[in-house]
Amino acid sequence: MGLTRGFSSVFFLIFLFALATNAQEERRIKIFDVSKYGAVADGRTDNTKAFREAWDDACKWQEGKARVRVYVPIGTFYLKLSDIYWHVNRLVVTGGGILDGQGSSAWTRNSCREGSSNCGEFPVVNDITSLDSKTTHFLMFGCSNINISNVVISAPGDSPNTDGIKIGSSNRIKISRTQIDTGDDCVSILSGSSYIDIYDVFCGPGHGISVGSLGKYPNEENVYGLTVKNCTFSRTRNGVRIKTWGSSFASIAAGFTSENIFMNNVENPIIIDQQYCPEANCLQVPSHVQIKDITYKNIWGVSSTKVAVKFECSKSSPCKNVVLTDINLSYNGVDDVTISECSNVNGASYGRHSPPSCV
Ligand SMILES: *[C@@H]1O[C@H](CO)[C@@H](O)[C@H](O)[C@H]1NC(C)=O
Ligand SMILES: *[C@@H]1O[C@H](CO)[C@@H](O)[C@H](O)[C@H]1NC(C)=O
Ligand SMILES: *[C@@H]1O[C@H](CO)[C@@H](O)[C@H](O)[C@H]1NC(C)=O
Repeated sequence: MGLTRGFSSVFFLIFLFALATNAQEERRIKIFDVSKYGAVADGRTDNTKAFREAWDDACKWQEGKARVRVYVPIGTFYLKLSDIYWHVNRLVVTGGGILDGQGSSAWTRNSCREGSSNCGEFPVVNDITSLDSKTTHFLMFGCSNINISNVVISAPGDSPNTDGIKIGSSNRIKISRTQIDTGDDCVSILSGSSYIDIYDVFCGPGHGISVGSLGKYPNEENVYGLTVKNCTFSRTRNGVRIKTWGSSFASIAAGFTSENIFMNNVENPIIIDQQYCPEANCLQVPSHVQIKDITYKNIWGVSSTKVAVKFECSKSSPCKNVVLTDINLSYNGVDDVTISECSNVNGASYGRHSPPSCV
């Protein structure tokens, strides 16, 4: 497998994907080497055509249903577009390379809004670095059974809309041993997502791990089954957050567990915000998203604001069964001066609490 290290205009891709159906077939691998398609590793030549042709041929390869591999040798390959994707099952991206989005030239002109169709996207997985993406680094819509691990995602804390991993309408996504420092959410989980497992993730700087914003559109699919475990948030705006639009349509967000989490100077370590309104004139109508069965357990560290725990739930659909156990968050390192704020929340608290629980 190829690799590259630290050049300024590095764009590096390694693909291996499998269409095989039995063990014998799986042993055979058909290689599509991008250099055979005319790709040049000089960091200047536009290799988009060569990469696309190698990818297309790999996708079309049917013979014996062998595994196919799009191979990128060691070097620095410049690509104009990263939209070399397809409907692929069991994609593996690996090899220690760097995907350098060179986004700093575009961040100042960023107008990419959630749901916009001209935002870049890329499916990726193991032992890879994604650097300075123009917008979201990894976007997963309609995906299932994806395992992301040993990935480094990096963009400056002030880069706009550079979500680390954005997941929507997807299920059974595992993210582990991954470091995300970026200008927006480290991971954002949108409607229609279920069974998302996040553990051993370091997030910061960034806006934390967020479910939502939910409820903007009618008939949004529910979000359920999210686990965030053994994670560190460092100097982030939020830790674990659930947010729904101020006046939002009905759906359900349920079954989330956040456990064993260290907060290092986080502005809002634990937050549910059902009045989310980044624009000035939102309707003052309660959200109809029902949030329930939410567990926070063993969360400690330092909040950089006084309100370390904040549950601002909907008047019309109060949060149900919010359970807190052993929370220890101090304000700027000083014990017992943080506070909790609750509105419209039902649930229970167990163990030791700082700040004192309001649930
Ligand atoms: C996910 O990837 C990690 C790292 O390669 C590996 O240890 C783990 O077993 C994988 N999990 C699954 C479910 O494939
Ligand atoms: C989380 O950390 C604990 C304690 O180190 C460990 O026992 C557990 O297996 C870890 N869980 C996951 C999902 O990584
Ligand atoms: C929080 O942690 C500090 C430092 O370890 C400890 O002294 C304090 O007793 C803990 N407070 C609670 C409520 O667990």
